[in-house]
Amino acid sequence: MRIKAAVLEEFGAPLEVQEVELAEPAAGEVLVRLIACGVCHTDLYTASGADPSGYAPTVLGHEGAGVVEAVGDGVSSVAVGDHVVTLFSPQCRECEHCLDPRTNLCLAIREQQNQGFLPDGTTRLSRDGEPLRHFMGTSTFAEYTVMPEIALARITPEAPLEGACLFACGLTTGLGAAMNTAKVEPGSTCVVFGAGMVGLGAVAGCRLQRAERIVCVDLSQDRLELARGQGATDVLSGGLDAVQQILELTGGFGADYTFEATGKVAVMRQAVEAARIGWGLATVCGVAGKGETLDVVPRFLITGRRVAGSSFGGVKGRDQVPKLVERWLEGDIDVEPFISHRLTLDEVNRGFDLMERQDGIRSVIELSA
Ligand SMILES: NC(=O)c1ccc[n+]([C@@H]2O[C@H](COP(=O)([O-])OP(=O)(O)OC[C@H]3O[C@@H](n4cnc5c(N)ncnc54)[C@H](O)[C@@H]3O)[C@@H](O)[C@H]2O)c1
Ligand SMILES: [Zn+2]
Ligand SMILES: [Zn+2]
Repeated sequence: MRIKAAVLEEFGAPLEVQEVELAEPAAGEVLVRLIACGVCHTDLYTASGADPSGYAPTVLGHEGAGVVEAVGDGVSSVAVGDHVVTLFSPQCRECEHCLDPRTNLCLAIREQQNQGFLPDGTTRLSRDGEPLRHFMGTSTFAEYTVMPEIALARITPEAPLEGACLFACGLTTGLGAAMNTAKVEPGSTCVVFGAGMVGLGAVAGCRLQRAERIVCVDLSQDRLELARGQGATDVLSGGLDAVQQILELTGGFGADYTFEATGKVAVMRQAVEAARIGWGLATVCGVAGKGETLDVVPRFLITGRRVAGSSFGGVKGRDQVPKLVERWLEGDIDVEPFISHRLTLDEVNRGFDLMERQDGIRSVIELSA
């Protein structure tokens, strides 16, 4: 079928919305009609050429939600008409990592996915007879996509898909960092550095875990206001004295749990230093620039602080994303404040401009034409 999609033709150039070919789903694959898709930093990172593993041409987008239109042979966990959230982090439920509760890094299709192929090493996307590579196994800046069954989370049809798409990446990353990776305990003190989509999700996750005190640190007052709406009890302006300010707020000890959601290695270091002596856990969510490293004075670790990293919040997507979506519908998570702009697919580059200007938290592309 012919579909409209936003193609990254060349690094550093605007995406070009055009018609491309999408083949039928093969065995184990699913055709999804996309309804909504968030615009995330990772799309921009790849489009800019900064990502060393990036490739072009490709159809970008990875924060999708939509409806199953057709299924390939052997697909049993989703059916036509089901509502789904796309997962750049799949869950095969069979590999060594899927069977282990300690990680969500499914091993099943990593290599092919990283190279832009579906699990059988080919693409369903093409243009003028030439294969066109998929992006993050998702390619959701498009009217339709074909994805492996193991990379789709089936959610309740009651969830509006414009909000559900945010659970495909940033929001789940933040929620999961607090709920899965750190496993914040009730009554604890938490600090979240960064109040973008990931940091705000972490604030909400700390609240859901019944943290007593949640301090959010950012440079933007508008974003700190949003953090209050998600449950932050204190807000601080970030900067060189952030650690000192946190120590003062916590009787000189530091916080039980700290979270970094800025992508800056200097802030990651602050997250370690603001964690409590004895048992504080710093969870790193941000993606640092190429070649950057995290500097930690070992004394901080010897005296009991720990550092963890979190990819997609440690969330096993097919099992846990539907449950997080349920909690949204139950009123535990407030998604609406994250949707700052609603765009058409033709306006995708405006989504990048808004993100670069830090205008709003998320632009959502609505595809239901
Ligand atoms: N681990 C994962 O699976 C995963 C998934 C999605 C995104 N990410 C990464 O998480 C990070 C955050 O993503 P986002 O979408 O929320 O980004 P964002 O740019 O919207 O938010 C980052 C926030 O950090 C704030 N900030 C910058 N410098 C600061 C400082 N010195 N102190 C305090 N705050 C500061 C900014 O004001 C901004 O509000 C990015 O690095 C992104 O690549 C990781
Ligand atoms: Zn993302
Ligand atoms: Zn697996």
